[in-house]
Amino acid sequence: MDLKIGHPLSATDVSFLLTEARSRTMLLVASLPDDDLRRQHDPLMSPIVWDLGHIGHFEEVWLVENVESGGSGSEGLRGIYNPFENPRAVRDQLPLPSLSQCWDYLSGVRRVVLDGVVQLDLNSNAPLLKDGFVFRMVLQHEYQHTETILQTLQLMQNSPYRPPRQLVAPPASGDAPPADAMVWFPGGQVEHGTNDRSTAYDNERPKHAVDVAPFWIDVHPTTNAAYLSFVNEGGYGQPEHWSSPGWAWKESEALQAPKYWSRSEEGWSERFMDKIIKLDPTRPVCHVGYWEAEAFAHWAGKRLPTELEWEVAASWDPEGGKKRIYPWGDATPTALHANLDTVLFETAPIGSYPAGVSALGCWGMLGDVWEWTSTDFSGYPGYETFPYPEYSEVFFGDEYKVLRGGSWASRVGAVRNTFRNWDYPIRRQIFSGIRCVRDE
Ligand code: AVJ
Ligand code: FE
Repeated sequence: MDLKIGHPLSATDVSFLLTEARSRTMLLVASLPDDDLRRQHDPLMSPIVWDLGHIGHFEEVWLVENVESGGSGSEGLRGIYNPFENPRAVRDQLPLPSLSQCWDYLSGVRRVVLDGVVQLDLNSNAPLLKDGFVFRMVLQHEYQHTETILQTLQLMQNSPYRPPRQLVAPPASGDAPPADAMVWFPGGQVEHGTNDRSTAYDNERPKHAVDVAPFWIDVHPTTNAAYLSFVNEGGYGQPEHWSSPGWAWKESEALQAPKYWSRSEEGWSERFMDKIIKLDPTRPVCHVGYWEAEAFAHWAGKRLPTELEWEVAASWDPEGGKKRIYPWGDATPTALHANLDTVLFETAPIGSYPAGVSALGCWGMLGDVWEWTSTDFSGYPGYETFPYPEYSEVFFGDEYKVLRGGSWASRVGAVRNTFRNWDYPIRRQIFSGIRCVRDE
């Protein structure tokens, strides 16, 4: 089986990948009582059973209605699982199914999909089918919603979630450059984006040549230790480091530290689901909003990278003058490369993944924490919507900032050097951190 980006998928591959995705989704929620699945734990998030039903509905719309029954477009995206008709804050008022009804629905859709996939011509050149695109799109949708579910699970405080941890420690730590090291990119012409049509979303295309000015970039993500210095030296009280919307937001929310940090007489702690540990100075700071990231960078005498600078540091191989799919090359990520795939269920100390270093020399570009960039989410020159505008295009504009790199809660199939995530600058329930750059 060759499941790599760019390769076609056989019916066996599709069946394997869909089954694996669902097993991982079920593993996350299997231990939860019905009540926790149906409750809205936070107005920011959906009841978990909504995410589950929505996963099945998306699969039904794309694989059953569009591909196997020959429909087109996303006309079927209606009803209680339509995210636009039913914004997150009202999803607890919908007539949600019970968990067993939800499983029946999901497995009914899946039965039809698997029966139908063997009839399909998977070597077709139709844009949805070519190189397995629509299957990877449906898979990535499920992967992305499991990260959303993990945000909800982390938000639960009264009955903390006990995750199915697979490993208690990352591969290594110790042999890396120091936490404050930076590397120099000498500038030049590079390629931004990709032309891949097997896996990439419309917003990652097309690949286009651009000139990049020289910059320094942090070798590692910003650590808890560095962020704690910002906190301890009064960064949250110094307006000169904050943009005006950032300062106003921080004031109105009375913020003093990242979400999930707490302070006692013994000092600061950080919570990962059911586990509260003394703040580990060597781990990346997580759960900061864009405005906090920007203020930290200013305080440090640096700035946030543009998404282009981030992508260069992750992907550009100056020797070959070409870009890599992942920082280390084109090999699919494993537990040796990066803290991904909900294996640890928490961040790892910086320097833990020597096999994951980029050509430029940056560590931890993928996994651990999403990294805020200073770029507004918009289409690249030559952008074309495919296959539906509600994935990317309707979010283009100056309301959203791009995040890059994936987190410990991101599935491998939803992460690569060109993948673009986006969110509001005020969001902190996402697994978001910081990496800074500076000029000269
Ligand atoms: C890419 C994470 C911003 O969750 O809103 C899920 C992914 N799109 N269902 C989101 C997505 C449709 C999206 N993000
Ligand atoms: Fe969705």
